[in-house]
Amino acid sequence: MTNQPLPEFPADFRWGVSTSSYQIEGAATEDGRGPSIWDTFSHAGGHIGDGSTGDVACDHYHRYADDVALMAGLGVRTYRFSIAWPRVQPTGSGPANPAGLAFYDRLVDTLLSHGIEPAATLFHWDLPQPLQDAGGWTVRDTAARFGEYADIVARTLGDRVRLWLTLNEPVVHLALGHLLGLHAPGLHLLDDPFPVVHHQLLGHGLATAAVRRHGSGAVGIANNYTPAWAVGADGTRGTADDADRAAAAVYDAFHNRLFTDPLLLGRYPAGIERLTGGDPESVILDGDLRVISAPLDALGVNYYNPTGVSGTSPDGPLPFELTALSGYPTTAFGWPVVPAGLTELLVTLHRRYGDRLPPIWITENGCCYDDVPGPDGTVADPDRIAYLDGHVRAVRAAMDAGVRVDGYCLWSLLDNWEWAEGFTKRFGLVHVDFATQRRTPKASYAWYRDLVARSR
Ligand code: GCO
Repeated sequence: MTNQPLPEFPADFRWGVSTSSYQIEGAATEDGRGPSIWDTFSHAGGHIGDGSTGDVACDHYHRYADDVALMAGLGVRTYRFSIAWPRVQPTGSGPANPAGLAFYDRLVDTLLSHGIEPAATLFHWDLPQPLQDAGGWTVRDTAARFGEYADIVARTLGDRVRLWLTLNEPVVHLALGHLLGLHAPGLHLLDDPFPVVHHQLLGHGLATAAVRRHGSGAVGIANNYTPAWAVGADGTRGTADDADRAAAAVYDAFHNRLFTDPLLLGRYPAGIERLTGGDPESVILDGDLRVISAPLDALGVNYYNPTGVSGTSPDGPLPFELTALSGYPTTAFGWPVVPAGLTELLVTLHRRYGDRLPPIWITENGCCYDDVPGPDGTVADPDRIAYLDGHVRAVRAAMDAGVRVDGYCLWSLLDNWEWAEGFTKRFGLVHVDFATQRRTPKASYAWYRDLVARSR
C-alpha cells in the first residue's frame, strides 16, 4: 500500500455501501414473506459449504435501524440494498403483501432521516419459488411478472428511491445458477441457456419502463465485470498463446458483453454462438431489443478481480477454461488482488461504448478475509484497508482518464451470508458475530469513514 495521500474526489461523488436482501435480512417467513429459490436451495442440503441458510443471516429485518445508524456513522450518502421479491409478492404474482412493502417503506424513510439516499436493486437472485416451479427465467412469463413486481414497488417507493438497479449480476445468476448448478436454482442448462439470458434482459427492460412510470430516480443495472486476461497454463500472461487469446475473447463476450451490448447497443455480441445453444432467434420476439435497450441513467459495475482465461481442447464443453492468475496476492476467497484491473475495466467500457455509456456507479467492490476480534474485542483488517485503498485509487485513475464515475458502493457494510459459502466469507466493514448478532466495526470501518469525510 502506498504512502501517497488518497486522491481527491468531486464534492458530489456518492460514497456508499452495498448489501442484498437474502444475504442480510433473515425473517425468512415473517410478515407474509413467501419462499425464494434460495430458501429452497439452502434448505435442500448439500449446496452450502457450512450447511447454513439465510433464515436469520444478519437479522437485518429487525435490526435495520441500528444498521442504518452504522451507515450514518460512516457518513455515506448512498445505501445500495435489494428488495426481496417474495416479501412484496409472496408467490411472485398477484396483489402486493402490505407488510412486506411496509418494511422497505420503513427502511427508506429511516435512510432519508439520516441523509442517506436509497439505491434499490429489484432482483438480487431471490426469485419467488412458485415462479421457478413454473419455469423461472427459462420462460418468458417470468419477465412479465418481474415488470409487474417492479411496478408495484415503484408505486410505493418511487418518490424516494434515488437510484434503481433492476438486476444484480445476471451473468453470475446465469453461470452459477443455470449452467454450473452451484447457486440457486441449481440447474445445468448447458445445451440451451439462451432463454435465461434473454428473459432476464427482457425483465430488465420491462422493469425499467415500470420504474419510469412511477418514479424520478435514475435507472440502471448492476453487472459483474472482469477483465478477461489470456494466460498460459502457469497463470501468467507472458505464456499465453493464440488459443488462449481466442478463448479470452470468447470469455470477454460471454462475461462482459452478453448483458451489456443488448442494453447499450441494442444487439447481442458476436462470438457467443457456442454459448447460446439452440435457436436464439426463436426466443427473441419483435420489439424485445427495443424494450431491452431503453436508455439507462447509470451502469452499475461490480468488480472484484480480473480473470485468467486459457484455451481448451477443441471438443471441450466450453470454448474457454478459467486459469488462476499467478503472481498476485489473493483474498480469503482465493481471488487475486489487482486494483489496476478496475482501471483497465472502466477505461475499456468507456472506449467500447463511447457516448452510449451512461455514468458508471461502482455498485460492488470489496474483499473477504478471515477477520476475527482480538483479545481487546477490536477487529484489525489491514488487508482489507490495503485492498480498498488500491481500488479507490484505481477508480480515481479511471476518472482522470476521462471515465465518468458517479459513486462507489463498497461490498459490504456487514459480514453476511455469502451464498454457497454460507457464513465463511467475511466481506464486511463491520464484523458480525452470527451467534449473538453483535456488530463490531473493523479498522476498515474507520478507514472508510475518514475517506468519506475527506471527500464530503
Ligand atoms: C456477487 C453478489 C454479492 C456477493 C459479493 C461477494 O457479486 O456475487 O452480488 O451478493 O456476496 O459479490 O461475492
